[in-house]
Amino acid sequence: MNNRVLVTRRIYPEALALLEAAARVDYHDTAEGLSAAELEAAVADKHAIVCQLTDRIDAAVIDAGADLKVIANVAVGYDNIDLAAASARGIVVTNTPGVLTETTADLAFALMLAAGRRIVEADRFLRAGRWRRWQIDLLCGHDVHQKTLGILGFGRIGRAVARRARGFGMRMLYHSPAPVAARVEREHGVEYADRESLFRRADYLSIHVPLNEHTRHLVGANELELMKPTAVLVNTSRGPVVDEAALARALASRRIAAAGLDVFEAEPEVSPKLIGLDNVVLVPHIGSASIETRTRMCTMAAENAIAVLQGERPPNPVDRE
Ligand code: DGY
Repeated sequence: MNNRVLVTRRIYPEALALLEAAARVDYHDTAEGLSAAELEAAVADKHAIVCQLTDRIDAAVIDAGADLKVIANVAVGYDNIDLAAASARGIVVTNTPGVLTETTADLAFALMLAAGRRIVEADRFLRAGRWRRWQIDLLCGHDVHQKTLGILGFGRIGRAVARRARGFGMRMLYHSPAPVAARVEREHGVEYADRESLFRRADYLSIHVPLNEHTRHLVGANELELMKPTAVLVNTSRGPVVDEAALARALASRRIAAAGLDVFEAEPEVSPKLIGLDNVVLVPHIGSASIETRTRMCTMAAENAIAVLQGERPPNPVDRE
């Protein structure tokens, strides 16, 4: 067992067992992980890193790992890793696609329902002892069924959201850099819309794009201005895709009706302007947070790291776009 693996934070035991059977593991069994300096020191004698989206694997960390062969991220997103620096050094980067698709789509749908039907607000109202009687206009929100869903980004998760929306009889529009094959459109019952009409026509708009230089603040004041005053925005992708200050303003002024957010621009900080609003449901980046999925994400990352250490092509390499 000449290979040495750095595991930066707590992972599920099944994944740790896989790694320990294949390599010597420097395991950091904490939620906090390592500081930048600690990461650089820890990586110095390692052949693999199993890291999480909260670990910033920048050029300095990558350069500190002279023997590094693979960086296995326990996430489908990999905006925490300097891909260019890794590629320049011939280091393979891997992620965990597919396994979290349905779980994340479940949460996107839960946020649509919760924000549209004011479920969290209603729960707070009841617990605060404010419920006196059934009332015709008490906590009325907006229907989800039969409404128009706009899906921004039509990859795996966007499509999984579409499959759920079908059961609610929703009309579905999507926007992506290019239309998908007509067969995929038919299969999911979706129609391509240009960006502007997606924002204009959607009653619910759910975001499913990766974070990169093209998608940072993809949804800002101009896009929010296009939306219906009854519209609900849901983001389970990455926080910086939405201009959070512009969104807080749009929600406070009721420019749009509500939002459901799983991700934020400066996690774990959440703008006090959002926290003070009743018409936004806020959850702490739990899109993939089911025990089954998180376990599988960890074992996938372990399998990716082990494959590279054994000289094989890993199941989930991130190819540079
Ligand atoms: C990911 O995998 O990128 C999610 O944000 C966390 O599951």
